Parts: sequence; C-alpha cells; structure tokens
Amino acid sequence: MTHHMEKLPIALNARYLSPSVTREMVSARQDLVALADKSLRSGTCAGCEFTGWMEPGKILSANEFARLVAAADKLRKETDVMLVIGIGGSYLGARAAIEALADDPDKVVYAGQNISAHYMKRLRASLQGKRVAINVISKSGTTTEPAIAFRLLRDLAGDNATTKIIATTDANKGALLQLARKEGYETFVVPDDIGGRYSVLSAVGLLPIAYAGVDIDAMVSGAKMCAELCKNPDPLHNPAYFYATARSILRNQGTNIELLASFEPRLHYFAEWWKQLYGESEGKENVALFPASVDFTTDLHSMGQYIQEGRRMLAETFLIVNEGEPSLQIPSDSDDADGLNYLAGREVSYVNSKAYEATAKAHREGGVPNMTIEIKQLDAYSLGALIYFFEIACAISGLLLGVNPFNQPGVEAYKNHMFEMLGKPGYETAGEDTVQPDYIRF
Ligand code: PA5
Repeated sequence: MTHHMEKLPIALNARYLSPSVTREMVSARQDLVALADKSLRSGTCAGCEFTGWMEPGKILSANEFARLVAAADKLRKETDVMLVIGIGGSYLGARAAIEALADDPDKVVYAGQNISAHYMKRLRASLQGKRVAINVISKSGTTTEPAIAFRLLRDLAGDNATTKIIATTDANKGALLQLARKEGYETFVVPDDIGGRYSVLSAVGLLPIAYAGVDIDAMVSGAKMCAELCKNPDPLHNPAYFYATARSILRNQGTNIELLASFEPRLHYFAEWWKQLYGESEGKENVALFPASVDFTTDLHSMGQYIQEGRRMLAETFLIVNEGEPSLQIPSDSDDADGLNYLAGREVSYVNSKAYEATAKAHREGGVPNMTIEIKQLDAYSLGALIYFFEIACAISGLLLGVNPFNQPGVEAYKNHMFEMLGKPGYETAGEDTVQPDYIRF
C-alpha cells in the first residue's frame, strides 16, 4: 500500500502547560537541544551504537521485509492463534500495536512476560483444540521468563511444530539461535544496533503485528515520515523535541511523575510500551521523571481524586485520537429516568472528547500542568508515526537529562539475586547475605 500523507497526523497542544512551561522557556533551551540533537545524529552521544531505530525504513532490508510478510501470511492461513513468547522490549511493542490496531487482537496471545504457573496453565487450557503458531523472541536467548515459557509451552505448536515456530533472536549467537538451528525453526533477527525498547519496527515487533493482520508497511511508512519531519533541531518547530524539552523543564521545576493519559482503551498497551521506553531509557542516576499511565475515563473514578488534589508532583500528557471512532449515538428515552435525554442523538465519541477537554482543564486548575499529543486517527500509519515520535523524543529527553538513553544496567540487579537464590551454575556463592523475613505477626 502506498501512502500520500503530506503532513504528519500528530500535533502537540501545549494549551495547559503555561505558566509552568512557556514558549519562551522552551526557546531559551534551543542551544541545549541542538547540542543533544547533534550528538545523537553525529553518532557521538552516549550509547550511540544503539541508534539503528532512527531510520525505520532501513531496519529490515526489502528482502527480509518480504520474507517476514510471507512468513506471517503463511502462519495466518495455517493457524488460529499466535503465541508470542518474550518480555520487555521483546514483547511490549508488538502488543501495543496489536491491541491498538488489530481487528481481532485475541488472535495473538502472550507468554514469557511473567513467571506465573496459573497464567501458563490457564493459557494452555484456553488454547486446547486450536492450531497454534509460536513466535519466541529473545535477543539474548537466555532471559529466564521467556525461556521457561517456551520450554513449557512449545508443544502447543503440535504436529509439524518446526513449521509453526519462528525464533526472533540475535543474528550470530545465543542459546535461542542454537536451539532454532538444531530444531530447524525459521529465524528473524534482533538487530545489534537496536535495544529492546526501540525494536518494535524491527522483526521483533513486525512479525507478530503482521500476523495480527495489521498493515506493517503503513506503520513503517508513518515512522519514516515522522523521522523526516522530526529533523528540525528547534523545539519550537519540532513537536517531539518540544515534548522532550517540556519534560526537562517540568523535571527541573520539581515534577516527579509524568502520567500518560488516554481516553481510548485500545491504547492501554501503548502506554505500557511508552512506560518501558521512558523508564528504561531515563531511569538511572536517580534523576528522571517516573513514567506512569492512567486509562480514562476509568481511572478518573479512582486515581482522578489524587491527580486533582493529591501531592503536587505530577505532570500529565494526554494521548488523544481526534477522528475515526465508529458512530454510536445515545438513544432518546421517553421516561428520561436517567436524565440523559440532553445527550440524545449525540455520538459517544463526542461525550468522550468533552470528558477529555474537561479533565485537561480541571487538572490544570488543580496544579497539574498538561499537554496533549493528538493523532488524527488510530491507524497503522499514525501509530507508526507516534512510535517514532516517542522514540526520538525519548532519545533527546535522555540526552538533555545527561544519561545514556540506550543502556539498561539496572535490570541486571534482580536477575543476579534471583540466579543466586535459584542456584544457577556460576551464581551459587553469594546467597549468604540474603535478608531473612521479619514478620509482624497477628
Ligand atoms: O529493553 C530491553 O533491553 C529489555 O526489556 C529486553 O528486551 C528484555 O529484557 C528481553 O531481553 P531478551 O530479548 O534478551 O530476552
């Protein structure tokens, strides 16, 4: 499919940022942003060996893209459901896109993102009688969660399993690559120059997304267009850089938490992806905003109280879809016992849009500076663009913060303790300093 979009379907609305963040404040940081931009694009920034995601059209060669589409199409025809096994960056991007865009997101199920026996047993039961494809995704090939899930669940691929299992992993090394070679699974590559949380537009995300029937060509086109339009280093003329700069100003003012808020349940997992992107890129050296997310209007009836009147340390970014919701009108009722007739004939999407406008206004009044990232419609092209928007903004935001936005040393800490406690060969020695439980008893 070709796309003739002249403009990016993304806009940043800064209406409720002022007076916390003004154009003048952003403008005063132009030089700093230009420096960050230069270090990123000239390949001199911290972690620059992991910037392969910056050119979304070049992540996969044309041949690899065609092979991926063919593999996804074949599995779609031959199976009922795909089990995606992966965790963190090897899973969240695919799920974000599939839940947002697929006609039937339930055609893809997930494992390896937890270590729950209950979850895996229930998943197995739910897949009885179904023809199951498996895409096991792990760059290292040794991550405990997906390794356990694959060992436990790979028999679900049934007869001719070899033809129904695809491994996405490192091109040259690792346990999963060895296993795939031994068993004869088709493989796709996790690129060396792309970290997990930036990998959704590589085979890591695109294979399951294509299996779910989403137009991955359109996604990549949207990302490419966004990459083109995000090249201006001036944050007043580059919404992604404006977003990064606004976050930096808010943080300097003492904001501790950024809430990503959506009024569209299909974007729930997009927010999960966003949290990993920002949390893992910036959460180091004790300095970054904590990325959190809320689903509105659902959470207006739980966290809404805190956001309005709790401790003032919050900023909020709304993610809003402007058009394309299906028509669903509120019916008239002769009794009007619920008092809703004043809305009779109105679209549900109209009510939702007013809920957003009211929330943005109320939260600003309550001391929560907020901005809105608007996309025209929730389609593959726009979502691809939005992914790139947040990726490039995250890189700049992390560099403004002074951290390496592309490493994740902190994720090893729990693993080391867990391996000691599990007695993994090579980790046995250290267990002695384990702190004993200190119960307060009834
Ligand atoms: O972003 C990251 O690097 C992590 O979230 C990894 O993607 C995650 O830990 C899974 O690693 P692997 O793909 O090696 O199994």
